[in-house]
Formats: sequence, C-alpha cells, structure tokens
Amino acid sequence: MYEGDSFSLDTLKQEYPSYGTTDFREPAFQILQENGSRITNFEYQHHKIYKGKPKLEGLPATYVEKGEEAITLEISLYDKLIDTEIQLLYTVFSEWNALARSARVVNHGQQALNLTRIMSASIDFFDSQFEMVHLSGSWGRERYVKMRKLQPGIQSISSTRGASSSQHNPFIALKRPDATEHRGEVYGFSLVYSGNFLAQVEVDHYDVARVTMGIHLFDFNWLLGQGESFQTPEVVMVYSDQGLNGMSQTYHQLYRTRLAKGYWRDKERPVLINNWEATYFHFDEEKLIKIAKTAKELGIELFVLDDGWFGKRNDSKTSLGDWFVNNRKLPSGITGLAQKINDLGMKFGLWFEPEMVSKDSRLYEQHPDWVIKVPGRRMSQGRNQYVLDFSRKEVVDHIYGMMAQILREAPISYVKWDMNRYMTEIGSADLPPERQREVPHRYILGVYDLYERLTTEFPHVLFESCAAGGARFDPGMLYYAPQTWTSDNTDAIERLKIQYGTSFLYPLSAIGAHVTSVPNHQVKRITSLEARAHVAFFGVFGYELDVTKLSEKDKQKVKEQIVFYKKNRKWIMNGTFYRIRSPFEDDGNIVSWMVVSEDQKEALVGYYQVLGTANPGFSRILLKGLRTDYEYEIEGIDGTYFGDELMYVGLLLEDAKGKGDFYSKIYKLKAIQSDEKVGMKNR
Ligand code: DGJ
Repeated sequence: MYEGDSFSLDTLKQEYPSYGTTDFREPAFQILQENGSRITNFEYQHHKIYKGKPKLEGLPATYVEKGEEAITLEISLYDKLIDTEIQLLYTVFSEWNALARSARVVNHGQQALNLTRIMSASIDFFDSQFEMVHLSGSWGRERYVKMRKLQPGIQSISSTRGASSSQHNPFIALKRPDATEHRGEVYGFSLVYSGNFLAQVEVDHYDVARVTMGIHLFDFNWLLGQGESFQTPEVVMVYSDQGLNGMSQTYHQLYRTRLAKGYWRDKERPVLINNWEATYFHFDEEKLIKIAKTAKELGIELFVLDDGWFGKRNDSKTSLGDWFVNNRKLPSGITGLAQKINDLGMKFGLWFEPEMVSKDSRLYEQHPDWVIKVPGRRMSQGRNQYVLDFSRKEVVDHIYGMMAQILREAPISYVKWDMNRYMTEIGSADLPPERQREVPHRYILGVYDLYERLTTEFPHVLFESCAAGGARFDPGMLYYAPQTWTSDNTDAIERLKIQYGTSFLYPLSAIGAHVTSVPNHQVKRITSLEARAHVAFFGVFGYELDVTKLSEKDKQKVKEQIVFYKKNRKWIMNGTFYRIRSPFEDDGNIVSWMVVSEDQKEALVGYYQVLGTANPGFSRILLKGLRTDYEYEIEGIDGTYFGDELMYVGLLLEDAKGKGDFYSKIYKLKAIQSDEKVGMKNR
C-alpha cells in the first residue's frame, strides 16, 4: 500500500495507542460505544507529578513506605465526544530501575461504554533486536525458561484459564541477543495479577517492537456505566544492564520489600512439616501427633495439616466448601489438635481451598447457584470440583465467615490457600447478560477481597498461596501471601529447573521448597537426603514426608540440616541471588546458583550434577557477588580465598570429580570476621 507523507500514527511511537485511525497495530485499549463505534480520540489534558504511589483500588500492587521512595506521574487523557478520561499512572522507584504502570478509565459521560480491551501498559521500542524470554510449562514443570528471537508479527504468551496458570507466568523479558545472565540489556515486564492475562510483542514493518501487557481481552468485556471507573492491574517494568540476573535481583528486592507486605514480610520463616506426601487423605489425630512429635525432636517449628481434615473428605471427591472438621479423623477438632501441637512446642497451620466446592458437599446442596456455570450447559468438573462464583459478594462473605470462625477459634499460625482447577463454562447467576464477560476479572477481585479481609483480621497468620503446586505463582498472590508453594513436583533434580526459572522474578523468600521422601512421588527418582536439602535450602525450607519412618541416621542428618538452615535463613532470605549454571543451557547437566548476604560476608553456593560422567575434565565455577577485598573461608575446604580469586579464577571442584548421578554439594563461605583481616588486601 502506498503511504504518502501525510501524518500517520503508524510511524510513531505511542504511549497508549488506539486502533482505527492511522495506527494498524494492536492497540492498548478499545471502547465500544452505544452507536457501535470503536473510534476514540483521547488527547492530553493535564498531568501531575507527586511523591509516593497511590493504592490501586481492590488490586494488589507495589507500594511505598515513605513518599520519597517513589515519584508518580499521572497523565490525564480526554475524549470529548464520549466525555471519558483515561488516567495513565507511572511510578518510578528511586532505589531501583523499576517503573510501575497502570491505566484507569473514568466514564464522565451519559452513555454506557464497553471496554473490550484495556491493557495495563503498551511500550513501543525503537527496534526489535531482542529475544523474548518467558516462563512456561505445566503442572509439575512450572516456569521453565524459554527464549525466542522476535520475528515480524505477533508473539505472545497468555492465560485464558481463570488463573495466571502454570502454563505461562505473567512475565516476559526482552533481552538483547548478546545479553547473558550477567551482562547486557534486558527489559522485564511483570503483571501484578492472578487471572487471565496477555503479554505480547508485535513487531511491525519498521521493526518497532510493541509490548502490550494486561488482562486478556479474549472473553473479556467490561460495561462501564455513567460515573464508573475501571482500574487495570499494574505492570512492573525493570531495566537491567547487568543481564537477566540483574533484572531478577531488582524484582527480588522490589517484590520482597515493596510488594509482599505485613508481619511476615521481613520475618524469618518457620521450618515447616506438611503431612500431604506423608499421609495424603489417610490420617487420624494419633498419626498426625506422632509425626509432629518426631518433627519437633528434629527441630521443625510448624506443623501443617493439609487436605482432608473437613467434611467427609477421604479422597478428592467430596466436601470442599464444608469447612467444618471431620470428627471421625480428628475427635478433638481443629482447636484441640492445634492446641496439642502447640503443647508440643510447635506452631500449627491449616490447608484450605476457599474458592472451590465439591458436587458432593453440603454447600453445593444448599447453594447450587453459587458456582460458575452456564444454565442448560454441561458443567465440566476438574478434580471432581466446581469453582465457586467469587464474583458474588455473598459467596465471598460466606467463605470468609467460615474461615474466619476457624481462625478465631483455633490457635492457627499459618494457612495454605490452595486452588486446584481452572475455570470452564464461565457464567454467573448474579450478573446480567451484558456483564457475563466480566466474571473472570470479578472473580479475581473476589479472591483479592477475601485475602485482604483475612490478612487484615489475622495479621499474624502466615499465608502460603498454592494452586495445584505453582499454577498461580504470581506477583498478585505475593502481595497477600509472602510465600508460594512452588510445585507439586518435589524431586530434587526436577526442582533445579523449576526453582531456577522461578528465580527469574521471585525472591527466595517466596519459593516454598520441601524435602520429601524417595523414591520421589512424582518421578520415582531416588536422590540422597543431602541433595534434596541442598536444593530446598534455596527457598523457604520445609519437609513433607513421614519423619517417623526415617532411620536414626537420617534423623540425625535432618537435625543437622535444620540447624544449618535456622542459622543461615535470615541472610539467605534477604540475600542477593545469582544464577551461575543453567539447567536450560548446554546439556543442563551441571547446575549452580548462589546467594550472598547483604553485607557480602556470607554466601551459600549450590552445585548440582544431574548425571555422572566417566573420566570428567576439570571443573570450576566462577562465583559472583563477593567483595574482591574480603577473604573467605569455605566450610570443609582448607585455606582462605579472596573474593576476586573465587570470582575470576573460580572455585575448583576437585571433590565433585568422578561423582555419580544426582550428586550435589553446597559450599558455605564466610568472610574472616576480624577487622585486621577484612579488607587486609587493600593495605
Ligand atoms: C495441591 C497442592 O499443590 C498440594 O500441595 C496439596 O495441598 C494438594 N493440592 C491437596 O489436595
């Protein structure tokens, strides 16, 4: 098509583009008006710049504690014909190369508008010389690192499942082709949202790359009545000139300290034992107390009772929604059991799946219209359960009432909030036809509302989010629950990939990691107790096996592992994480990562070999993040080493040579403390 010299938006970089005039690329928003038109003309009206960051109503978002920590730019755009305003919000954090963006539409006019697309952010890059990085997978193999070169046209990842999903995390990064883990330019985009999302890059005919991110427009529509407003979730954009690892470190710091919130944000997390893989549904009080007693002897601090304690639930077929105790299994009730666990000197935690209901349940019998469904249509079950209609306030109120009562009555210190199926046959009995496409977003707002109310009423309860493992490991959840169950796949070797990918965005303080029994329940692999702990130390550490069945020798090892973790967890959680050898590159046989304390005086290095090889060559890893002028001792290795030697010559892995399959080793470094020694090299 011939293009003359006349003005065309197609050749311009835009902030929040619309479709239908002269830009033919995919827009950031589209508004259907009463006359059927989708054409809009939003023009700059005014802007303001102020210290701090406003809250996003009803949505999780990054925040500031003091006004000086960030500056916000608010730009107001206005379309006269429909008397509607779009506010674009940009918050720049002073401490990090991070920018939070969102949009808000306010209908000041007389007509009802339909938002058919309303993205959180749109960014036009000058060129498309990038690779798109994303975290994709499925149940049991969440957040594998994927990279692809940008090509002309649209490339995207998304979720239409009603949850952020294990298929794709709501994150993409654009990295320069020569950027590596530790060098080069990377732009990260992370959506603080837990529902359907779209992250796409459109490369146009001038090699401009347009990044668009927000709530998925597929099966979405929002009716915006007179005087109503709509707030999008926010995208947190990070720039790094220190490669992918630099980007991750920014996300870690920001998300650990200014997204996660509340009492537990900065607290050392308890070492927990979860009974799921130990007993599944088959337990009674006696069995649980036995496990708890042994766990206490081993040094474990929190006992978590997982699925199966309520209604008549002895398998996955019944009782979700009936949040009252099964007295056959637990004659002293949750309160009695929790008290007994407390008397042992341990905290008590409890599993819920608040958003679901079983067909075979009292709740479903009483309120069959409280589920997401379409009248006259088949209702697909997933894990024998239906999704409760959290777009309805009365449903959320009811579940809140039941959960709050248990939390008020029993001494509960921790809640595991699970969610085990995606949405199908989406519809709500409570909404008119023209609002049916609002259900998935309204549902997520309902989930956030329940989280907000529970975390407000029970500020000292530690929440861990979970969704069939890590199917909703996203920044939205992290705002309410400072830790997330990373994956149901607990095999040490498989976890290398899962935790490596997860670390692209999420701090170690968020990554739930448990030592489980062997043969591993998911992949039947047998790894050593050491290897399982060596992987789980790089996360929120816990156990999920029947500790009463451990040999005395293994019990001793577990005790030592717990002593080690407790001694180091504070700085590990707040430390700087470095990925050193990727399970996704080369043949992935050697994997390594490390964490360095904020003061750079301590470090923990994890080294993992998937399969042994005959007659291997020399091996070393180049450490990261140490002080060149600090002299470090390495536990179990003679001598001392300056940081520069460890970083530029490397740690020689003499002891790893010739080892077999699934070999692992951790190296604990400590700077020599005395003042004469620290910094000695500079004299
Ligand atoms: C899925 C979770 O990921 C598991 O840890 C466990 O809580 C089960 N659900 C219980 O049904």
